[in-house]
Amino acid sequence: MSDHPETNFDLEQRITAIVKEYGAKPSALIMILQDIQKHFRYLPKDAMEMVAKKMRLPLAQIYGVATFYRSFSLEPKGKNHICVCTGTACHVRQANVIVDKLERDLGIKSGQTSADQQYSLESVNCLGACALGPLVTANDVYWGNMTVSKVDKMLAEVRGKKTPRTEEVA
Ligand code: FES
Repeated sequence: MSDHPETNFDLEQRITAIVKEYGAKPSALIMILQDIQKHFRYLPKDAMEMVAKKMRLPLAQIYGVATFYRSFSLEPKGKNHICVCTGTACHVRQANVIVDKLERDLGIKSGQTSADQQYSLESVNCLGACALGPLVTANDVYWGNMTVSKVDKMLAEVRGKKTPRTEEVA
């Protein structure tokens, strides 16, 4: 049984279009998987099988790429993806307090997705902007110098579906 809401016919059409856009060459595989993940918020099994068929590549090779890069997920992700940096620079600035707060507020542990598929919470090692630590991203928007009260503000923005302003980074 399919593990995503799209029918196989729709899925095939979408994968065909994506593969056509980038070309069925091995060098395009990452971009193709990125587009598929952007659409489904993860990489469904049947999509991977279709990519393998259309690109004439072994399924193991597709899975190899999908599991090598942290940004790819084989599990369904929440509609809103919140990521806390717990790398050294952020850790020393109390990133664990932010993780605790988010776990309590969202009712899930880091690494989990809420049952209603609204939120995913993840911890990563370094987001590459250590000076802004503790650093959190919410749907790819950076929230720097994070505090417990700023988490409330961030979640209010995420829940209100408003796009946070980039100056929140400061
Ligand atoms: S350690 Fe958090 S951004 Fe580098």
